[in-house]
Formats: sequence, C-alpha cells, structure tokens
Amino acid sequence: MKIALITGATSGIGYAFVEHIDTLSEVDEIWVSGRRITVLEKIQSSCKTRIRTFPGDCTTKAVGHEIEHALHTTKACISYLVISAGMGKAGPFRQSSYTDQLTMVDLNCRAVVDIIHCALPAMGKGSTLFLLSSIAGFSPLGNYAVYAASKAFTTSLGISLREELRPDITVVTVTPSSVDTPFHRISKSTGIKKRYFTQKTAPEKVVQKAFADGQKHHAYSCAGRVAIAVRVLHRCIPNHLAALLGCRALYR
Ligand SMILES: NC(=O)c1ccc[n+]([C@@H]2O[C@H](COP(=O)([O-])OP(=O)(O)OC[C@H]3O[C@@H](n4cnc5c(N)ncnc54)[C@H](OP(=O)(O)O)[C@@H]3O)[C@@H](O)[C@H]2O)c1
Repeated sequence: MKIALITGATSGIGYAFVEHIDTLSEVDEIWVSGRRITVLEKIQSSCKTRIRTFPGDCTTKAVGHEIEHALHTTKACISYLVISAGMGKAGPFRQSSYTDQLTMVDLNCRAVVDIIHCALPAMGKGSTLFLLSSIAGFSPLGNYAVYAASKAFTTSLGISLREELRPDITVVTVTPSSVDTPFHRISKSTGIKKRYFTQKTAPEKVVQKAFADGQKHHAYSCAGRVAIAVRVLHRCIPNHLAALLGCRALYR
C-alpha cells in the first residue's frame, strides 16, 4: 500500500499538501496528523483518497510511536512524507515566553527528527521528503532568534539528509517567505512590523513549487520572489548584520 504522511495537516501549507496529493490519486491512503481532531475528521470526509488520522501533539513521543506502529502493521510504503507541523513566535528574547521558546525547539527540531526516524524505514526508491523550513533559516534574525535558529536546524538537516539518502529518496527543503496561512495569527506574535508580512504567497503555490522542485531533485524550494531573493542574498550578508537587520526590521 502506498501512502502519504503529512504532519501539520490541519492548516495552512500542510493542508494544501493534503489537497494536492488528494488530486494526484497516486497513493492509497493519506495519513494526516495534527492536534485538532475535528479538523482531521473534516479532512477525512472531504478527500476522495482514504484518510487515516493521527491526532496528537507532535512534541510528545506518542504521535511518532503510533505512526511507527501503523507503518509496521500495515507494511505501508511512504511515497510522500511532508513535515509541516511548526510554530514561530517573534519578539525580543528577554520578553518572550520560555514555554513558547522551548515549544519552538521541540516542535521545529526534536519532533522533526522523531517523525523522520519513524518514517524512514517505510521510505525507499521514489519516495520524497518535503521538509518545511523557512527563509528565516538562512541567517540569524534578531527578534526572531529562536525561530530562526530552529529553522536553520531544519534546513541543515534537510540538506544533509538529501546527500545521505539520494538517489533513492528525494529530499526537498521548502523555504518559503511569508505564506497566507493562520501561522502568524496562531502564534500570536505581537509587535511585529506588519508591512514585512503583507506580501504573502498562497500555500497552494508553495506546494506546487515544492512538487516541481521535487521532480527536478532540487535541494531547496523557494516559492515567490522574496524567498528567491533571500536565498541568493543571504550569502552576501554577514551573520551579525542579518541578526541586526532582524532587530531593526521585525519588531517595533
Ligand atoms: N506561514 C508562513 O508564513 C511560513 C513561512 C515560512 C515557513 N513556514 C513553516 O511552514 C510550516 C507550516 O506553517 P503554516 O503556515 O502552514 O502554519 P499553520 O497554518 O499555523 O499550521 C501549522 C500546523 O502545525 C500543526 N501543529 C502546531 N503545533 C503542533 C503540535 N504541537 N503538534 C502537532 N501539530 C502541531 C497545526 O495543527 P494543530 O493546531 O491541529 O495541532 C497546523 O496543522 C511551519 O513549519 C512553518 O514554520 C511558514
């Protein structure tokens, strides 16, 4: 049985991946994860592909264990693994909540490693891993320090795994700029200078670009002009300057 496994499937980019994979009709089942059971159930009733739900908090080991057990019992092969569950909260480090900062590390770093560990034995020739990072992972960013650091981890992980797992498994590190999802509202970042987040890419565009880049075995997928510009320009900007730009630009 061929499946797609998507974390963060209840919203935004993860949900756009569910919709896209549903229309492809390439897999027998789509396995979706997120904390909101009612939303997972809605996905179950709206997709034409059979949906299996894995409700729960990815920062606990329970979700990974359940997925691992299901993969073992069904002997399913993962065609697409999408790791999209993530959160990001901006703000000066000293004024930010300790709990939020640790949740960012747990969800954006630890849980990513956990899910990949659980899923990898079920992946093989022709499988694709889409790893959701961010342009924030290209350089340090003052006033977004923990999020940027967590996404630098994701980007580094994705690029390393790409080399380890090729040619059988394609790994695409997806690095969008601002995407039109509930992400910023959900993370309740306060004090952000809104003008930097007005130009938003549609999540569907991020997904289409990710699939196109996956087919070409590209390492990165940057949808939109801002993401492409940051990917190119970050090499010319020293880290301390990028961090300073973040301090000045991101927070009022
Ligand atoms: N939106 C942007 O501007 C943007 C830009 C660059 C990169 N990204 C990255 O893209 C990814 C997806 O972001 P998005 O814009 O789609 O955000 P979103 O709309 O807020 O969706 C986040 C998803 O993560 C899930 N999630 C959050 N905390 C979780 C937890 N503890 N355990 C399990 N699932 C959890 C949420 O589901 P539940 O609430 O149901 O748990 C939701 O499905 C993230 O990794 C983000 O860092 C986003």
